[in-house]
Amino acid sequence: MAESKNTIVHSPLELKGLAKYLSLTCHRALERGVWTFCELGIADIMADYQAPITAKQLSQLNGNTWNAEFLYRLLRVIADVDIVKEIINNGNDNEDSNRKSCPEETVQYQLTDDGLLLTSNHSSRARDMIRLDLGPHADKVSTYLPSLIKFGYKNGNGFEQVFGCSLFEYMQKEENKEYANIFDNSMVAYSNLVTSSIVSLIDFTRFNKLVDVAGGLGTLLSSILEKHPNLQGILFDLPHVIDNAKTLDPNEFQQKQVESTRYEFAAGDMFKSETLPSADAYLLKYIIHDWNDEKAVEILQSIRNANKDQIEKTITVFIVEMVILSNRKDNWETHALDLEMLCGVSSKERNLFEYISLLNKSGYELKDLHKTQGIMSIIEAVTTTSN
Ligand SMILES: C[S@@+](CC[C@H](N)C(=O)[O-])C[C@H]1O[C@@H](n2cnc3c(N)ncnc32)[C@H](O)[C@@H]1O
Repeated sequence: MAESKNTIVHSPLELKGLAKYLSLTCHRALERGVWTFCELGIADIMADYQAPITAKQLSQLNGNTWNAEFLYRLLRVIADVDIVKEIINNGNDNEDSNRKSCPEETVQYQLTDDGLLLTSNHSSRARDMIRLDLGPHADKVSTYLPSLIKFGYKNGNGFEQVFGCSLFEYMQKEENKEYANIFDNSMVAYSNLVTSSIVSLIDFTRFNKLVDVAGGLGTLLSSILEKHPNLQGILFDLPHVIDNAKTLDPNEFQQKQVESTRYEFAAGDMFKSETLPSADAYLLKYIIHDWNDEKAVEILQSIRNANKDQIEKTITVFIVEMVILSNRKDNWETHALDLEMLCGVSSKERNLFEYISLLNKSGYELKDLHKTQGIMSIIEAVTTTSN
């Protein structure tokens, strides 16, 4: 290889011609490998072993009788993406001689720092993010994109066509509890990516009570309460999610040592304003993008209605989303994830004008747009209840 690893262009976004398509294909295969590594819980096994290990040894741990050669071929890919590291020497200076025959018995592997993130109990929840987004549910749903482009939602979105109900209905069913847990954990991973920029960008000291609407397990709300000691918080979500959030031991608030008098859990349906707690501030992170315009307006109106008994009360809403920004060079991640919203939940990623239109239809005004360093933006909007 003439060039050093850092100077080679690997991204299909930058490659030209046939190489672009080869790169896309290779990335797809790489993703399959990473998903398999997560699905089989290999990071847990390697972390428990606490020493470099060959594929052959690994294949026989925990009573398993895995195919050692295939496992070696998987680990070789996982090493390319720096999730495990190869220890080639193994008492032998010649790299090639280690691989000459039975490399599954000679090449050792150990987890890198990034590999540790993929252990089941790691607070990043990266393992479940990969299991959700690169797993078979997501795969099956995405194959409906061509038919959705041809026929629209005539037969339902991709998720509905595969599973016979919407994603959120599916996750409320007892038999899909494991998938719902993976989903909730995966949302923690996404929150972990953006929590610190949200907490540092917004000053919440001007509020008394903040409700995180459909706030998942409470990762973001607990971090905001940790930083703002005079703020009260309510974590609101569907009953099965609130049950999960409450039973985590320790829960997200306890992990950050937020006093138990400063937070509450509330189960309900955000489309039913009578179940939504009243407050002076609300967070909606990755919520509006899950719904079409009509439903998005209903959510925003539901928040207003939850406060309708209070005359001329000003309510602030923070909408945290990957807003498509016109002056931004690379919206590619948001554009790509928009296709997932199209297939999975009949919704979309929006630009600022589309968000402003939703706000105006629901009786809100845009107050500010806070941009984070990454792809997330925070739309701050206000409304005043009528008398
Ligand atoms: C994409 S997740 C976002 C979770 C969290 N806000 C975050 O950013 O990590 C969407 C959330 O909406 C919740 N949800 C869906 N329908 C809901 C409803 N009708 N009422 C309340 N929550 C709902 C789901 O349970 C899920 O936690």
